[in-house]
Amino acid sequence: MSINKKEKETVNATKEKKHYLSGKEVREIARANAKEMRRLEKAKNRKAHPSEYTTKMKDENNILEVEGLHSYFFTDQGVVKAVNGVTFNIPANSTVGVVGESGCGKSVTSMSIMRLLQGPSGQIVEGEIRFKVSDFKRDEKGNFIPVYEKDADGNVVMEPVLDKSGNPKTDKNGQPILKKKQLLDEQGIGVFEQEETVYDIAKMPIKEMYRLRGRQMAMVFQEPMTSLNPVFTIGNQLDEVSLLHVPGATKEFAKKRSIEMLNLVGIAMPERVYASYPHELSGGMRQRVMIAMALAGEPRLIIADEPTTALDVTIQAQILDLFNDLKRQINSSILLITHDLGVIAEMADYVVVMYAGRIIEQGTASEIFHKPMHPYTQGLQKSKPTMKSSEAKLFNIPGNVPNPINMPNYCYFKERCSQCIGKCSGEYPGMVQVSPTHYVACHLYGEKEE
Ligand SMILES: Nc1ncnc2c1ncn2[C@@H]1O[C@H](COP(=O)(O)OP(=O)(O)O)[C@@H](O)[C@H]1O
Ligand code: SF4
Ligand SMILES: [Mg+2]
Repeated sequence: MSINKKEKETVNATKEKKHYLSGKEVREIARANAKEMRRLEKAKNRKAHPSEYTTKMKDENNILEVEGLHSYFFTDQGVVKAVNGVTFNIPANSTVGVVGESGCGKSVTSMSIMRLLQGPSGQIVEGEIRFKVSDFKRDEKGNFIPVYEKDADGNVVMEPVLDKSGNPKTDKNGQPILKKKQLLDEQGIGVFEQEETVYDIAKMPIKEMYRLRGRQMAMVFQEPMTSLNPVFTIGNQLDEVSLLHVPGATKEFAKKRSIEMLNLVGIAMPERVYASYPHELSGGMRQRVMIAMALAGEPRLIIADEPTTALDVTIQAQILDLFNDLKRQINSSILLITHDLGVIAEMADYVVVMYAGRIIEQGTASEIFHKPMHPYTQGLQKSKPTMKSSEAKLFNIPGNVPNPINMPNYCYFKERCSQCIGKCSGEYPGMVQVSPTHYVACHLYGEKEE
């Protein structure tokens, strides 16, 4: 081999191993990214007929079905596949916990469901997010359709139209002008026709999402101080939710409801808190207010992303108790996101375990806690401190998560796994069903090796 050729090979080998990008490479990535981001932003801001994003649930018992979700960040270093093919369901009236180490894509999953990914770099690239909503029906002019009161014979009840001072208006002949009487609910608020629709949130124009957020799905964030507006009172911000989402809500109604919500989340002096500004409350109180705010629109789905992480341990326990109480009282499902397996154990009916942007195991809480199958879930279990553990040192899973820009094409957990078999160097493992509700993505449970 000539010296020249040998030199060339060495240069190539170093190039492959290098941990930096050349200017040319960065420019090429930026150009490709810009094109893709423009395309996705255009789709996000397009006008579309509802039929384009109306769909059907695969299973009517679910209120949310996420299927094959891919959410990427287009950065100058390359494409970060933060969520890389995630599929799970949220059944009605249940709590689904998503657990995994920091950086595994939990928040990006929840932000994708809310369509709050920061564009243009953060985008849903592929997949469906089917969400069952109970929305107000609209007439051809886009107005809500009232439900009218009917008498015993099934005829619509008529009532006089009143003028500003509350006296019946009359026509030219002195006859009172009548209108159809709208049915009122037990709180005295007019009832409107509703219909169940399933939307594919991933395909919805971003403008349409405003109608869903707050009323159909609400989010409780990790840091309540940054989510509350410091210049408005708690009452002001809570009232706003009812005024926005309950058609026909008056200021008095909104205040009554806000106080009710503060009561529901265990705030002892709701009137006082109603009149306070966020900075006058403790962290735990602010988190309770955030939860009250999420509940005020009576959403079908509450997404709580690390709702207790910023709080002291004792307050954490109180907030978890509150969630557990609420679960019994409200008619919503909860998507609970946390890196803390202990939190999940107390709360969740179903558990989804994520690793490096993918789901590696999912099942009922009991399956994940008593029969964890994936080596990563087993490791998470072992690294959880318990009262009974006699070991002086806590178990920790060795190694790091692979670089999200350059994911390997074999099992992402391989470098850290102590149970590897020959197959593990091959393809990424597919999901294997091990019980009607338990799934795991690991070669240990596929077809046996020859
Ligand atoms: N704005 C962003 N730009 C680039 N990468 C991001 C951005 N936000 C999150 N990521 C990446 O997405 C991955 C998942 O992040 P995240 O969902 O926030 O993790 P966690 O599970 O801790 O909530 C991480 O690798 C993170 O570095
Ligand atoms: S597929 Fe192999 S490397 Fe991956 S977790 Fe299972 S045993 Fe470990
Ligand atoms: Mg997070």
